[in-house]
Amino acid sequence: MNKNSIYQQRRNVLAKYIFDKTGGGIAVIATAPEVTRNRDSDFPYRHDSDFFYLTGFEEPGATLVMNIIPKGKSFDLQSHLFCRPKDLEREIWDGIRLGPEAAPEALGIEFAHSNEHLDQKLSELLADQTAVYVRLAESAEADRRLRHWMKQVRGQARSGVNAPGEFHDVDAFIHEMRLFKDAHEIEIMRRAAAISARAHIRAMQTCKPGMREYHLEAELLHEFRHSGAQSVAYNSIVAAGPNSCILHYRAGSTELRSGDLCLIDAGCELDGYASDITRTFPVNGKFTGPQRALYDITLAAQEAAIAATRPGNTFMEPHDAALKVLTQGLLDENLLKLSEVGSLDNAIETGAYRRFYMHRTSHWLGMDVHDVGSYRESTAEKEKPWRTLQSGMVITIEPGLYVRPADDVNEAFWNIGIRIEDDAVINNSGCELISRGVPVKPDEIEAIMKNG
Ligand code: GLY
Ligand code: MN
Ligand code: MN
Repeated sequence: MNKNSIYQQRRNVLAKYIFDKTGGGIAVIATAPEVTRNRDSDFPYRHDSDFFYLTGFEEPGATLVMNIIPKGKSFDLQSHLFCRPKDLEREIWDGIRLGPEAAPEALGIEFAHSNEHLDQKLSELLADQTAVYVRLAESAEADRRLRHWMKQVRGQARSGVNAPGEFHDVDAFIHEMRLFKDAHEIEIMRRAAAISARAHIRAMQTCKPGMREYHLEAELLHEFRHSGAQSVAYNSIVAAGPNSCILHYRAGSTELRSGDLCLIDAGCELDGYASDITRTFPVNGKFTGPQRALYDITLAAQEAAIAATRPGNTFMEPHDAALKVLTQGLLDENLLKLSEVGSLDNAIETGAYRRFYMHRTSHWLGMDVHDVGSYRESTAEKEKPWRTLQSGMVITIEPGLYVRPADDVNEAFWNIGIRIEDDAVINNSGCELISRGVPVKPDEIEAIMKNG
C-alpha cells in the first residue's frame, strides 16, 4: 500500500460518513497553530493529530477542506489543502515548505492552494452547501474565520446563493476512527514502544546513588533521539524517593538516594504516535523488603488487568481486576485495616483504597498519549455502558500504589510510590504487550541493573 493511500482511504471513510449522514457537505479541519514559548522562541511545532491522521502533512499553517459532492446514490470527494506558499526568504530562515504546487502529488490530494486564497476559496466552497462539518467551539480564532466565510456567503444571497444552515461536529467521527488502529499504525506504535523500552533499560543501567533525576532524564532523551524518535510523547517523569508519590511530577533535580525507589514514566513519540511506559526500580539496584512487597502486589494487579484485557470485555474490566488485587494487597499489608473497612468488597465500594491508588488503570493510547475515542458506548441509555474492548484498540495498563507518610500508616512503607505501565494492543484473543522490551519482574530488573 502506498503511503498516500492510507490518508486517502481515511478521507474516504470520513466522506462516506458525511454522505450517509447529510447527503453531502463540506468538512474543514485545520492543523495546530505554532505557539510562542518566549519572545522569539517557539515551542517545538507539533501538528494537530486529526489533521495529520487525514493528510500525513506535518507543516504548520495548513487547512484540509473536504468537499463531498452527491452524485446519484454515491458521492465524489474533492479534497483541498491550503498551505504555506513557497517563499525563498522564509525558507532560508525557517526551512523548506512543500508548497501548493508540489502538494497534490506529494500528498495524494486533489487540489492545493496557497493560504492567501483560503478566505476567498472557502466562501466559494461554502456556497450552496447544506451541511458544514467543523470542530465546534474549538477556538475563538476558528470561530472568527468561520463567521467571516459565512458572512461572505450570506452576502451573495441576492445572487441566489444559499448559505449552509447545518453545522456538525467533525471530531466525534474522526475520533471514533482513530480509536481503531490499523496495521500501519500498530507497526509504528510497536517501534515507538520498543524505543521507549530501550530508554528505560538505559536509565536503569545508568542509575547510581548520588546521581540526580535530570541525569536519568538525559539518558531517556538520548535513547529517544538516538533511535530517531522526534519527541517525547509527554514530559518525562523521573521521580526519586518521595517524589514517586506525586502523580504528575516532572524530572527535577532531586538526588537519587540509595535505599529509595525511582519511578520513571516516559515514552517517545515516533512518527506521530505515542508510547507510554512506567517502571519503578531501586536506586541502588536492590529492592528492600517493603518495596518488594508493594511491587509484587502492583505487578500481580497488572497481571490480573492484562488477563482481563481482551475483546468482549469492557474498558473497566481490567481496572476492576487490578483494583481487587491492589486492595487485597493493601489489606494483607495492613495498610487498609480490615477492622476499619469491613471487607474487600466494602473497601472497593467505599473507595477506601483511593488513598493509595487514586487513578484509573487504563486510557486509550495512539497519536495522543491520552488518546481520543469515547469511553462509553453510544447507546440511547442515559447511563451508557463502558466501551467494549475490540481488536485494534490500544490501551495502557498502569496500576500503582502510592504511600505518603501519615500517622496511621506503617512507617516502613512511607514514600514508596510504584507504578508499572505497559502498552497493550487488543487482538482477536487477548492483547499484545508492545512495551515489554524492558523487564518488569523485580528479579529481572535487579539483574539488568547489576549487569549494567
Ligand atoms: N504518562 C501519562 C500517563 O501515564 O497517563
Ligand atoms: Mn499512561
Ligand atoms: Mn505514563
